[in-house]
Amino acid sequence: MMDPMRVVVTGGRGALGSQVMSALSAMGHEAVSASRRSGVDVASGAGLDRVLDGAEAVVHTADTVNPRSYAAVTLGGTRHVLDAAARQDTPPHVVTISIVGVDHHPYSYYRAKRGAEELVERSDQPATLVRATQFHSLAALFARLGRIGPIAMGLRGMQLQPVDIGWVGRRLAEIAVGPRPDGPARGPDLTGPDRFDLTELTRLVSEHAGRTPPRILALPAYGAIMTAFVDGAILPGPDAEIGGERFAQWLARQPKRLRGR
Ligand SMILES: NC(=O)c1ccc[n+]([C@@H]2O[C@H](COP(=O)([O-])OP(=O)(O)OC[C@H]3O[C@@H](n4cnc5c(N)ncnc54)[C@H](OP(=O)(O)O)[C@@H]3O)[C@@H](O)[C@H]2O)c1
Repeated sequence: MMDPMRVVVTGGRGALGSQVMSALSAMGHEAVSASRRSGVDVASGAGLDRVLDGAEAVVHTADTVNPRSYAAVTLGGTRHVLDAAARQDTPPHVVTISIVGVDHHPYSYYRAKRGAEELVERSDQPATLVRATQFHSLAALFARLGRIGPIAMGLRGMQLQPVDIGWVGRRLAEIAVGPRPDGPARGPDLTGPDRFDLTELTRLVSEHAGRTPPRILALPAYGAIMTAFVDGAILPGPDAEIGGERFAQWLARQPKRLRGR
């Protein structure tokens, strides 16, 4: 049995962060959430030095979906976490989460996530960069977005390989308490077992809601962002680690009326 470790989770009350917190606690470690509600703001760096004091690892999940805050939170937050970790007498292992396929994707959030990855890659400290595909709840949101009454619009040829957020949280926890790299390292790309056409996901989500499956209007991609999605930029490669609950199992546990992302 490994000695209990103190692990800070930025965004520890968020969707992914709370899964990391539960996994760490279940493994017998001390999990400490750091977010604005606990007085830590990664955008300004406030509170980070204090909360990282004595931490052996930090899992950085805090982020934003507000495009106006990508520079401050997605990029600035990652920089502040790395800098605060580097200031500790023994810098904690920094584990960050990004998204599969952000390399050359023109979508602004993905560009910001790639920028955050580059900060990790250029840092000279123990850090592991993990990527995941879309969580099941986000894939279900994609499937609901295009529906207007009996018709669902979708991008022709767009595919997704969604993943179980609980499993991603467990893997991040395991990586955080696992071997500490000497410098920046690339962790696994995490994905789920099933690959779907968006139209198939739309059908599954409609059936779950007890609605007549919509007539699918498969539209061609228009512009660089849609083209990147249709061209499979967000699909995992052959080396990705596959695990977690299947999309259908996840869907069966959801209320009929799906909400959120
Ligand atoms: N959703 C997906 O499908 C998916 C797939 C792959 C990777 N990811 C990545 O997973 C990560 C977590 O996503 P999520 O869905 O768990 O997000 P989330 O539920 O929105 O949680 C984000 C957390 O970040 C905290 N936060 C936001 N701004 C902050 C700030 N300035 N300082 C400190 N904390 C701040 C928030 O807590 P407070 O409000 O208390 O500050 C919130 O609890 C992101 O990096 C995302 O890119 C997501």
